[in-house]
Amino acid sequence: MPNHTNPRTYLPRQQAMSRSVAQPDSFLMRSASSASSASGDPLAEHRVVGEPYYRTVADEVELYEAAYSVRMPIMLKGPTGCGKTRFVEYMAWKLNKPLITVACNEDMTASDLVGRFLLDANGTHWQDGPLALAARHGAICYLDEVVEARQDTTVVIHPLTDARRVLPLEKKGELLQAHPDFQIVISYNPGYQSLMKDLKQSTKQRFGALDFSYPEHEIEAEIVAHESGVGLDVAKKLVHIGERARNLKGHGLDEGLSTRMLIYAGSLIAQGVSALAACRVALVRPITDDPDMRDALDSAVTTYF
Ligand SMILES: Nc1ncnc2c1ncn2[C@@H]1O[C@H](COP(=O)(O)OP(=O)(O)OP(=O)(O)O)[C@@H](O)[C@H]1O
Ligand SMILES: [Mg+2]
Repeated sequence: MPNHTNPRTYLPRQQAMSRSVAQPDSFLMRSASSASSASGDPLAEHRVVGEPYYRTVADEVELYEAAYSVRMPIMLKGPTGCGKTRFVEYMAWKLNKPLITVACNEDMTASDLVGRFLLDANGTHWQDGPLALAARHGAICYLDEVVEARQDTTVVIHPLTDARRVLPLEKKGELLQAHPDFQIVISYNPGYQSLMKDLKQSTKQRFGALDFSYPEHEIEAEIVAHESGVGLDVAKKLVHIGERARNLKGHGLDEGLSTRMLIYAGSLIAQGVSALAACRVALVRPITDDPDMRDALDSAVTTYF
């Protein structure tokens, strides 16, 4: 069955304004949030409650554990929807460390990460941003799609990602020494890089990197079956369609069909939607508007269903 253990994700701006506004979080996250105020644990809402389903693909779990043991900053590289976020959630659970996720975008400022002074009825008070919160209390901080952030924002992570492990909070006048448990993880889709949007070498060279890709056939089918609720036979057909479409990458498709899309198709089928309609809605229509490419993908679908 689908697994919904996502710890709270920070969306810059919203985060700054969020205190009084109810977030559309899951029940699980809201109960964790009330646990935070009750227990006084500043990271309570970021603990991964329950084991996230993660199917190991190669030696990524051992490599990550080794990297964490020396607190090496880690970069997860791979196309969209191939399991990077699920992997980091699983590792946070396995290592029993809180996970703070930040969805990066180009409007994000250094203050969104580090923190800012806020004004309330009692005057001004400092509020740690997600990066400072993770560094102060010892969480894994996951910066999702980090290249979306401007380079002048990304450089704030530099002193945390070398031997110093500090975060200067300049506005507050504090040099924050990272907690021993703190680790930084970023994700990165190499397909989307351009000269205008890439990480500086001085950022890249502060990280170890794990490559992610779509899992091999049998494993991907197992994941699709588990996550969507369809049988393994249907999942295998969906994976075949995905593989066909991936061969069209660079020949009319910018990106291959992700594992996520195959799970969406499977979920519709599990809801009783016909396989053809499910594949059209979840696989073919979202990925291309080109009529010839849609025909090619539709015929790949009819080969299997
Ligand atoms: N190895 C895996 N084990 C378990 N589930 C997986 C695995 N790989 C992919 N999935 C499934 O695929 C979905 C998409 O994966 P995920 O959200 O982790 O992708 P991502 O690489 O973070 O994509 P993006 O770059 O778009 O954020 C997950 O919700 C999960 O259901
Ligand atoms: Mg992700």
